[in-house]
Amino acid sequence: MPELVETYFDWLAGIYDETTAACQWSAPQWLGRAGGPLVRAGDWVLDLGAGTGQSSAPFLALGARCVGLDFAAAMLAQARAKYPALSLVRCDLDCPQGLPVADGRFALVVSAGVLECLSDPVGFVDRAWRALARGGHLVFTFDEFVAGHPVQGVAVGRADSGIDNPVADLAGWQLHRHTLAKVTEWLTARGFELLAERQIEADIHSHFQVPIYYRLVVARKAE
Ligand SMILES: C[S@@+](CC[C@H](N)C(=O)[O-])C[C@H]1O[C@@H](n2cnc3c(N)ncnc32)[C@H](O)[C@@H]1O
Repeated sequence: MPELVETYFDWLAGIYDETTAACQWSAPQWLGRAGGPLVRAGDWVLDLGAGTGQSSAPFLALGARCVGLDFAAAMLAQARAKYPALSLVRCDLDCPQGLPVADGRFALVVSAGVLECLSDPVGFVDRAWRALARGGHLVFTFDEFVAGHPVQGVAVGRADSGIDNPVADLAGWQLHRHTLAKVTEWLTARGFELLAERQIEADIHSHFQVPIYYRLVVARKAE
């Protein structure tokens, strides 16, 4: 259902920053904390699913040259207005033909709040690996399957995070929660070394008022 995901984020774009502030969305700051020490001014950073630019902002602030990819035109329009220095390209990350960026050029690939939206998470890992220079780092979050959690206890379910939307089915696309064991398996199989991981409180679910736990991962493309 990629069209529905795209339409959902196009609908959300105009209220994305205020909504994420209200639910205390913190994944972009976690990316900055984990990825900031791994880049220097002038390095190339690739943000997969850049949205309105929140996940690129910490790296722009460090003087990195950032490229953001996303398929939701309205999200990209918000990012463009906020961050003129951010290079933005509209594309689908579920793209067997590969990302529209040069291979082996990026010191850091980041992504927050995106893996769970994709139908091809293994392809995501592969495409991040290709974009990275040797020794480069991948820092990303993913929505974790948490047994018994009122929201995250469902491995594949509605994306609805309790935010009212005018068309109920806009959030009816399938969000895929993963386990750390599975993500580690994908990373290792592709030639990444897992350097660090930790569970983070990514936001507060607006309907259930419970923390939503994401996993933050730092991996390195092996030499
Ligand atoms: C939860 S938002 C995260 C945005 C930003 N990274 C942040 O932390 O605020 C998820 C983003 O991923 C994008 N996205 C989801 N699936 C995608 C796909 N298949 N191709 C490109 N972008 C996608 C959405 O359009 C949306 O902007």
